[in-house]
Amino acid sequence: MRILGIESSCDETGIAIYDTERGLIADQLYSQIELHAQYGGVVPELASRDHVRKIVPLIRQTCEEAKLKLKDLDGIAYTAGPGLVGALLVGACVGKSLAWALDLPAVEVHHMEGHIMATLLETDKPEFPFLCLLVSGGHTLLVDVQALGQYKILGDTLDDAAGEAFDKTAKMLGLPYPGGKYIAELALQGDETRFNFPRPMMNRPGLAFSFSGLKTHTRVTWEQQKEQGNNEEEIQQLKADIAAGFQLAVIDTLSKKCLRAIKQTGHTELVISGGVSANTFLRETLHKLGKKHHFRSFFPSLKYCTDNGAMIAVAGAMRFQNKVIEQNNLIRAFPRWSLDQLS
Ligand code: KG4
Ligand code: ZN
Repeated sequence: MRILGIESSCDETGIAIYDTERGLIADQLYSQIELHAQYGGVVPELASRDHVRKIVPLIRQTCEEAKLKLKDLDGIAYTAGPGLVGALLVGACVGKSLAWALDLPAVEVHHMEGHIMATLLETDKPEFPFLCLLVSGGHTLLVDVQALGQYKILGDTLDDAAGEAFDKTAKMLGLPYPGGKYIAELALQGDETRFNFPRPMMNRPGLAFSFSGLKTHTRVTWEQQKEQGNNEEEIQQLKADIAAGFQLAVIDTLSKKCLRAIKQTGHTELVISGGVSANTFLRETLHKLGKKHHFRSFFPSLKYCTDNGAMIAVAGAMRFQNKVIEQNNLIRAFPRWSLDQLS
């Protein structure tokens, strides 16, 4: 079964074809990052218009890469939410129209389910049930994944998402958007012990997250300390030390909450996905923690951590195979859609 996956929930147009016998056979991605970078964040209307421009040529390229014609496909999977409504509607309109025109079944995929299933594109992959830490620009969730479509949210963020905290801190330090990877790069030159940033919600029981206090603490530190910098070199070092201290506080919080959830649920496999799962320090920290506490961590390869079409194609293919699809004749987009509503 060959499934075309379409992702357009935010600022990436991702198209891929997943073959249930051969695996991923084509994968194309167009990132709008440059378009939005000048505004320091995603401009929804520009995002929708750019998806309109790119989506059909990308579908053609993906078919060429797979050496397939549209008529060789067996189904269409597209992201129906959560995300920016205009951006989602582009993918939903194209996905559903293609399915109607080709007389194929279509499936609406939850973007975060796509992130969870991205790990299953790897050869060394987890088996259900497992625990999942979903860390992206919009979400920070600990999810008990029982099976495809069966999710129980164990912990959510009360305010900012982890990726959002990275992006806001990066913006404050004058780094480009989206700032997660720039903070990680800068942190390599920093002293993580110079400032001791708070570990939010660590001394309370439970699995909830909160990053806005840490963000404020980081801002206050930057504003106070930069006044004392005498030259460009000192300011540069200050930025690197703040990036390192901030990153350590976020990663420490995420990994300790994962350990807490592992102990609470008894799972021995942990999947980490979403844009922040590209963070090398997070990857190393969880691998080390797993060795000590007897659990295994699974990450998607770097290109499938951030938004892409492959994760939607594989999640859609699993839904078709397991017959977990809702047949309807509607073009729908759900800007807000909780994962546990799928269960
Ligand atoms: O999953 P994603 O592509 O989009 C959403 O669904 O939100 O995640 C994007 C987020 C951004 O906040 C970005 O700064 C963050 O992932 N990110 C990182 C790294 N690479 C991307 N955060 C920390 N370290 C990284 N290496
Ligand atoms: Zn995402």
